[in-house]
Amino acid sequence: MIYFDNPATTWPKPPQVKEAMIKFMDEIGANPGRSGHTASIEAARIIYEAREALSILFHVKDSSRIVFTLNATESINLALKGLLKYKDHVITSSMEHNSVMRPLRDLERIGIELSVVPCFADGTLDPKEVEKKIKTSTKMVVLDHASNVTGTLLPIKEVGFITRRNDLLFLVDAAQTAGAYPIDVEKDGIDLLAFTGHKSLYGPQGTGGLIIGERIREKEMIPLKQGGTGSRSEFEEQPDFLPDRFESGTPNGVGIAGLLAGVQFVLEKGVEQIRQNEMTLIEELIMGFEKIPELKLYGPKNQNDRIATLSFNFPRLSPSDGASRLEKEFDILCRPGLHCAPAAHHTLGTFPEGTIRFGLSTFNTKEEIKTAIQAVSLIAK
Ligand code: ALA
Repeated sequence: MIYFDNPATTWPKPPQVKEAMIKFMDEIGANPGRSGHTASIEAARIIYEAREALSILFHVKDSSRIVFTLNATESINLALKGLLKYKDHVITSSMEHNSVMRPLRDLERIGIELSVVPCFADGTLDPKEVEKKIKTSTKMVVLDHASNVTGTLLPIKEVGFITRRNDLLFLVDAAQTAGAYPIDVEKDGIDLLAFTGHKSLYGPQGTGGLIIGERIREKEMIPLKQGGTGSRSEFEEQPDFLPDRFESGTPNGVGIAGLLAGVQFVLEKGVEQIRQNEMTLIEELIMGFEKIPELKLYGPKNQNDRIATLSFNFPRLSPSDGASRLEKEFDILCRPGLHCAPAAHHTLGTFPEGTIRFGLSTFNTKEEIKTAIQAVSLIAK
């Protein structure tokens, strides 16, 4: 089997991820930060270590500003619903996933104003277009770091500079880039970074987080849920400090133990090295595909503007039929269709059928790329 559905979730995971999860189940097993006995303390230590490892990866000074969630979607919802108020204006792009679009469309119903800046047909965005939309009621800019459809990178640094200069909050959806592309929340001017654990951080599904920058007053940010935190148990009101304010209920200890092992794997390999390896492979894939005249490729021509995700279409074959033939005839797994990102497909001109998407991870190989080029070439012909 050749697995190219890594933008949905990476597979395989490094073996140490599963081992850390089994170790947590077999040897720790307790509820972190609740009971005071050694197993509970050990569970809390694992979670603390995960926060610390993530803060090294994303250059966060205070690891308590990293809040664990179920996934990037929950993190984005927490950031938007926790901070936006009636009549606030928000700017986003036309390449967003529904994890951004759906909560924003819902917030529009209750009086939040939304501007969607159009991207070019390859998914790229001119940061000046973002700046043009700013008005006195603008509170936040929300952008995905890289498109889950085309892999197009959005100009995070440039927009981060614009948001700082205009005193706006900047929320970045790093679902596709965390672990696969260097991120420095300070240097990139990011106030809120939503990430998932199960993609390029190689952790298990059901893990993710939100980094809440120092410009955010956490006391004024409303949690998505309230409940037990193991802290300030004498009060019936939610604690107002980080991370407890946003982490009610027993956390996914087993998952976070796996995520810690995934992040350690990424730190050991190095994000730059991971990116370089993945880009070498995607460039080979694109070069091979460019020699197949029947194919239509989407996304930026300049490789510096992308991550290792590519969308394409066969002529006269729907994306779902194409993907089905790739699996049945060549054992290649990928995702066809709209990829939960209708706005992005409108931008590319591929709505409503969508595209076929190949997305790589650090575990893909040159041989797999060669086989994929041959398979796609045969189907195209
Ligand atoms: N957002 C994920 C994808 O692009 C699930 O497939």
